[in-house]
Amino acid sequence: MNDDTEKNQNTIEHENITVLIDEDRIARRVAELAARIESDLGSLEGEITLVPIMTGSMLFVSDLIRRLKLPLRIAPVTVQSYPGTATTSRGAHLQTPIPEVLRDSHVVLVDDILDSGGTLSMLRRLVEAVEPRSIRACVLLDKQVERSHEVGCEYAGFEIADEFVVGYGLDHDGLYRNLPFIGTLKALEHD
Ligand code: IMP
Ligand code: MG
Repeated sequence: MNDDTEKNQNTIEHENITVLIDEDRIARRVAELAARIESDLGSLEGEITLVPIMTGSMLFVSDLIRRLKLPLRIAPVTVQSYPGTATTSRGAHLQTPIPEVLRDSHVVLVDDILDSGGTLSMLRRLVEAVEPRSIRACVLLDKQVERSHEVGCEYAGFEIADEFVVGYGLDHDGLYRNLPFIGTLKALEHD
């Protein structure tokens, strides 16, 4: 495949997307979040466990952990809240058990985006029940909406308006997770 064909394919793939936060801004912010987490948790007694909320947080957490030099464990959980082409949450459903290793550990829940608050509030409650040493939450994106579930979140990368975003782990009907930036879907901008 020559260079022109390759470029055309990329252009076609991104034609429906407007870039909201580019790769460089994401990388800089992830580094800042990692530095804050490290300074808050670095001197604590006890183990640290990051809990990536799958599948949306997979790119974010993989970049975040490469910036963290603390000894830590990773114990993912899977939550589904946006079935198929839905662009509003249908309630958070936990698909995996709460990992036993969280007991007695400093837990950091990591998600791609905080929207209605349903996912984080459910997980904070379930994780508290296994008696960790502490719980914190870290999201890349904080959607400015009236939350239907009040929930605390200690670390947030970017505040964004109430619009549906894709890329850097976030999907629409299972697609776009592999985009290296955050964008909005042009097709949805006219809904
Ligand atoms: P919440 O439970 O409503 O706070 O939503 C959190 C979950 O919904 C996230 O983990 C995402 O997977 C998903 N979500 C919320 N907003 C968006 C969006 O704009 N694009 C893609 N997924 C989203
Ligand atoms: Mg999610």
